Amino acid sequence: MTFTVPEPELAALEEQVRAALRTADDRELTVLGYGEVTLVLRLDTETGSFACKRLPVFPTRERFARYARSLEEYLTRLADAGVRVAPTVLWTMPLPSGKVVAYCVQRALPADRLCSRLLHTEGDAWAEQFFGRLLAVVDGAVGPCLGIDGQAANWVDLDGELVYLDVTTPMLRDERGRERLDVRLFFSSLPWALRDVVRLSMTRSIFDKFYSTRGVLLDFLGNLHKERLEKLVPGFLDQAAARVNPALTVGEVAAYYRDDARMWELIQRLRKADRYWHRGIRRRPYPFLLPPDVDR
Ligand SMILES: Nc1ncnc2c1ncn2[C@@H]1O[C@H](COP(=O)(O)OP(=O)(O)O)[C@@H](O)[C@H]1O
Ligand SMILES: [Mg+2]
Repeated sequence: MTFTVPEPELAALEEQVRAALRTADDRELTVLGYGEVTLVLRLDTETGSFACKRLPVFPTRERFARYARSLEEYLTRLADAGVRVAPTVLWTMPLPSGKVVAYCVQRALPADRLCSRLLHTEGDAWAEQFFGRLLAVVDGAVGPCLGIDGQAANWVDLDGELVYLDVTTPMLRDERGRERLDVRLFFSSLPWALRDVVRLSMTRSIFDKFYSTRGVLLDFLGNLHKERLEKLVPGFLDQAAARVNPALTVGEVAAYYRDDARMWELIQRLRKADRYWHRGIRRRPYPFLLPPDVDR
């Protein structure tokens, strides 16, 4: 099932990433996807192609070790809950400073089987049975302690089965509802002045939705607007009706999307301001590669 990470090639990729950060030029890199938090790079080698997800740099070995444990637990919990997850290997490069660079590595799965793509390329019949499968998987897995980001871009349809890709941000909560994730680290691309405020007031609102079927579906359906697929929403709402209480409506989905889009736009604006501060004023490299603006 699993695989061996091609060490020297990945180390070379990391060199390229660093060069890109130094020069603020990412044209040498093959970007598979810009998520909201991680940067996913494609690595082609003689032993196959890989999706390499660069995590925020860990300031200490302890924080990395904590992350490694939570990732492992997340993968196990998902599998136990019946979610098929793309085999994922954590690869690290400890730095002399004590910091740790790490990547979540998966085999690169066929881009044309990505469900966000298939929703565009396949017909209504595929969409309907995809959504039926998604409902079953999500409803069977999420709960107060285990979350999933159900967006269509996080699933690949392989041999008639949905395979989940997005595991870099393990969504696990303890019995008191606290996030196990190192939230501060994973939001480290937010400008320092706002990080604490954002962390306190936004963590709940960003994460809560991932821990209930209703929330995951609301987010999934809202995102169809971003994909310009909102025409699918009413049919999906009918399919979901039996599993969601109180019922979701077209209006709630649209309103949710507007709020969510506004929040991520704000975050992106803050990051750009911070990047300008680093590069333009302080004259030092900005430590993140930012996704291009999304047309919302
Ligand atoms: N194993 C993979 N094979 C092919 N493409 C992938 C793979 N993993 C991720 N991607 C692409 O990168 C995008 C972002 O990856 P994801 O793991 O969802 O990270 P994020 O947390 O940033 O959303 C995906 O939507 C998909 O387009
Ligand atoms: Mg994702």
